[in-house]
Order: sequence, then C-alpha cells, then structure tokens
Amino acid sequence: MFNVDKIREDFPILKRTVHGKPLVYFDNAATSQTPQIVIDTIVDYYSNYNSNIHRGVHTLSQEATDKYEEARIKVQKHFNAKEAYEIILTSGTTHSINMVASGFASLLNKGDEIIVSALEHHSNIVPWQMLCEKTGAILKVIPMTDEGSLDMETYHKLLNDNTKLVFSNHVSNALGTVNPIEEIIEAAHKIGAAVLIDGAQATPHIKPDVQALNVDFYVASAHKLCGPTGVGMLYGKQEWLEKLPPYQGGGEMIATVSFEKTTYAGLPHKFEAGTPNICGGIAFGAAIDYMNSVGFDAIAKYENELLEYGTSELLKIDGLKIYGTSAEKTAVISFNVDAIHPYDIGAILDKLGIAVRTGHHCAQPIMDYYKIPGTIRASFSFYNTKEEIDILVEGVKRAKMMLS
Ligand code: ALA
Repeated sequence: MFNVDKIREDFPILKRTVHGKPLVYFDNAATSQTPQIVIDTIVDYYSNYNSNIHRGVHTLSQEATDKYEEARIKVQKHFNAKEAYEIILTSGTTHSINMVASGFASLLNKGDEIIVSALEHHSNIVPWQMLCEKTGAILKVIPMTDEGSLDMETYHKLLNDNTKLVFSNHVSNALGTVNPIEEIIEAAHKIGAAVLIDGAQATPHIKPDVQALNVDFYVASAHKLCGPTGVGMLYGKQEWLEKLPPYQGGGEMIATVSFEKTTYAGLPHKFEAGTPNICGGIAFGAAIDYMNSVGFDAIAKYENELLEYGTSELLKIDGLKIYGTSAEKTAVISFNVDAIHPYDIGAILDKLGIAVRTGHHCAQPIMDYYKIPGTIRASFSFYNTKEEIDILVEGVKRAKMMLS
C-alpha cells in the first residue's frame, strides 16, 4: 500500500511555506527534493570523515574511499552494469555526455553520420554539434510527431553504413514522452552504430537495466532521483570505455607520470581526474537506496495516477492545451493557456506557493516545432498528491482570470 503521507514526512522541505502558502513543488523534472536520510548522509560525511579518497593511508581517507566505492557499487547494481568499473562518477548528465562526445573526436572521420532525436535537451544536442565541427561528421535528426513522439519510420530510414553513433533521451524532459529506446538500440546495433541514452529524466521513474537494454552508454544525474546536485554517472560498456581516450588529464587518472611519458590508470579512474564530489557520490548511493526502498513499481503506478488525474483536471480549463500526448509518458504535463505567456502564469503560481518551470526547458527545437515560446511544465513526483494538483488547477484558473 503506497502511503504518500508517510513518504512526505521523509522530505523536510515539503513542510515549508512560500509567500505564506504551503509549498506545492511541481518542478521535479528540474530537480527532485532531498529526503532526510540523504541530508543525514551529507551531514555525516562532513561531520565525521571528510577526507580525500584513493590517496591517504590515514583512517579518514580509508573510510571515505570505502564509502565512495560502496556508492559506485550501489550505482552499478541499480543500473545492473556488469562491472563496477563500467560506472564513471561524473558531475552530472551534461558532464557524462561531454565525456563521450569528446572521446569520439578521435574515433570519427569526415562524412561519418551521427543521429540525434528531435526531443533532446540542449545538453544532448550541443556536444554533438561541437563534435561534428571538430570531425566533419554530419548530424541527422529523428523528427518528432504532433503528439511529441519520435517518428520511428524515419529513424529506420536514416540509419546507414555511415552511421556511427545514435543519441536519444530515454524520457523527454519537456514533454515526458518515453522513447522506444529498445527499438532505437537494436536497429543502431544492426548497422554497427553505438548508442548513448540520456536517462536524466527517466531514472526518477524507471529502473533501467543497461545489460538487458544492451546499451553502449547510459547517463544520468543524482539530483533528479533525490540525490544532491553536482554528481552523476556514465555507464559505458567496458570495450567502449577502453577505446575512448581520457577526458581530462590530472591526478588520479594516471598509472605513472614522467616528462618522457605518462601512462593512464585503468577503469574507472582513467575518466576521474582530480578530486571528485566525494560527499555527493556517497549521497548518490544513499539516494539510490532510498528510492529502491520506496520501490520503482510503486512509484510508477502512483505517478501514473497523478498524471491521469492532473491531465483530466487541467483539460477542464477552457483554452488549456497540453503539449506531449504520447501514450507512453512519465508524470510531466507541459501546457499553455490561450495565448498567455507561460512566464506570466508561472509568476502568479509562484505567489500561490506553486513551483513549476516555465520557458523552453532547454529544448528549443521542441518549442520551435510547436511554434510557441515555451510552456508551463508541472512535473510530478511520488511525494506529490492529488490535493496539490487541485491547488494547481485552481491556481491556473485564477491566473487565467487575472491575465485574460
Ligand atoms: N533539465 C532540467 C529540466 O528539464 C533542468 O528542467
């Protein structure tokens, strides 16, 4: 039995007020809130064993190293990677994508083709454009449909012998569409292309199995799944991580250094130059434990109820249009009301204590497709309630009345 009242007690921030009103936090796709157990993990680290890792013989350094490596194993197990060294701890999804894009600069040739989906966040567009500029590779785009899904027929036609890489998000941050990544991966592999899946928006709702997916790279951020900001992961198949050159040079990523020749460390350290976000990595592990204790099946079922309820209640408002109506969606509702600018509605909602994101959501090509400047995006999490959705609906009605 999913007990949302009990779950809400885990999140101290949900007790606060904003402009004198109880906080209604519907900006979960931007960042999720932090349960007490993750906050305690952070406090414990700085109170008891703050120290650099992989470097010291002293007790604190050993303790911090052990906890950091335990966190890597938690990430490995969560994503079902075969080996812990196939998990690179990064500063977040953007860092992870740039690491792969930069690595492929030495593997691509002029005229090679890379395919990206039309539903991407800028972080899964711009690094590949930069890679194309460097290498002379050509960027092709899987188009989107009116309902906010990928046009898979065209995808299959885009694949050819020159295709070397394919990128797609697992879930669109702007619309919530769940993309058919199994089909994307299988078709790309048939012609020998590698696939990177951006899981930033999927991982709060879905537990991915990278071995079952047979994906080459899968990336995500801790802060979307109840962890802290500034930490994330890159899963790469061992064969790919061995092929790619290091992203940054520095301490920790070397085996030996001399002025004549430096040799690199093995995986995962080859990609982890410098002192990492140690506390963040350990807290990422705690967040994964917390999410699994709630349970991803229960999360998906409950969030789907919120999505259905929110969709039907919002659609009762005259002039409200939802963008992203695919049958496969996570709990994200992107909408506009008449021709009112999304920012104006967002500002009024804030005064009512309701946090939503407004704008293009770092996905300008999607907004261009719909010929709109942006949307209001309400993104739900398993700690939200139907009562909060009622508050949102009343808030939107009020904003519409004030702005019409
Ligand atoms: N990528 C995050 C979002 O969709 C920040 O809001």
